[in-house]
Amino acid sequence: MQIITEIESLRLAALSELDKNETLEQLESWRIRYLGKKSELTTILRSLAKLDLEDRKEVGAKANQFKSILESGLAEKKKLLEEAAIISSTEEGSLDVTLPGNVMTTGRLHPTTQVIESICSIFQNMGFQVVEGPEVEWDSYNFDALNIPKDHPARDMFDTFWVDNNETNEKARLLRTHTSPVQIRVMEKEQPPIRVIVPGRTYRYEATDATHESMFYQIEGLAVDKNITLADLKGTLFEFCRLLFGEQRNVRFRCDYFPFVEPGVEVAIECLACHGSGCRLCGYSGWLEILGAGMVHPNVLKRVNIDPEIYSGFAFGLGVERIPILQKGIEDIRLFYSNDLRFLKQF
Ligand code: DAH
Repeated sequence: MQIITEIESLRLAALSELDKNETLEQLESWRIRYLGKKSELTTILRSLAKLDLEDRKEVGAKANQFKSILESGLAEKKKLLEEAAIISSTEEGSLDVTLPGNVMTTGRLHPTTQVIESICSIFQNMGFQVVEGPEVEWDSYNFDALNIPKDHPARDMFDTFWVDNNETNEKARLLRTHTSPVQIRVMEKEQPPIRVIVPGRTYRYEATDATHESMFYQIEGLAVDKNITLADLKGTLFEFCRLLFGEQRNVRFRCDYFPFVEPGVEVAIECLACHGSGCRLCGYSGWLEILGAGMVHPNVLKRVNIDPEIYSGFAFGLGVERIPILQKGIEDIRLFYSNDLRFLKQF
């Protein structure tokens, strides 16, 4: 058939010309010539309607095959020419090496994570093991087992988010108000000697402002063994403060009350800003409170079947965000969790 021969010779011509195109402009006029609206191919495809059914099938198939060969040849050639264009443009010196480069942004750890890591590593070096516990906790672990029974006024120290409604039920769940319940979980599973450090999130039902967040981090510590005394507590926490805040920093121990320890202490360091002479940061007292601690209350040990006549222990708990707040003079605790990169990138 005449028309098939025509397609065949058109194909030969188109492909041999395709190779000769040396620029993208030349390629574009080749495309118009062979694939454009006024090309012979288009004319052939339009005339198909006039053919009888058998011929239409045969010619249509040939023409479409021809079209797709041209189209893929075109795409391939276009890619080659584009690559060549990039190479030659850089060779001609259009690459300006004095332009500022693309800055590669590197990720970093969140400031809270950085503090947790440095605190944990201090205690790990003293032989403490890092453990974690659940953030949704039973009432009995968060309060009762820590010597805070129902209706005890000490419960008022903790503004609690209840998950279950029934506050009078031991099996009521809550968002843990401190990391101390993990002490109980550890002592239930392990026999002394125990030395653990527990970082984690804690929650308080609190209106947020510059110094209060409803979610914040704490680190709990617990050591239980034979013959552990207040001197061990003091030595450990003294050393911790010196390693974290510097050799010269004065550290103060004073009595404080926490239901799960007896005696309880509060540990403060000499103010980081005024070195003890009194300023706004330390409320003109010269001291910054860093953590609560004490000797584990015998009631707490008894509850987990550790005999307080044989074993004793010390525990401590500290608020994580408070450390960088004091060290770096951060004025608003909410900055930590508002995901503002201008703040986070500074650490
Ligand atoms: N759990 C206490 C709080 O959230 C902090 C604390 C005080 C923990 C004394 C202790 C401790 O282990 O001995 O306020």
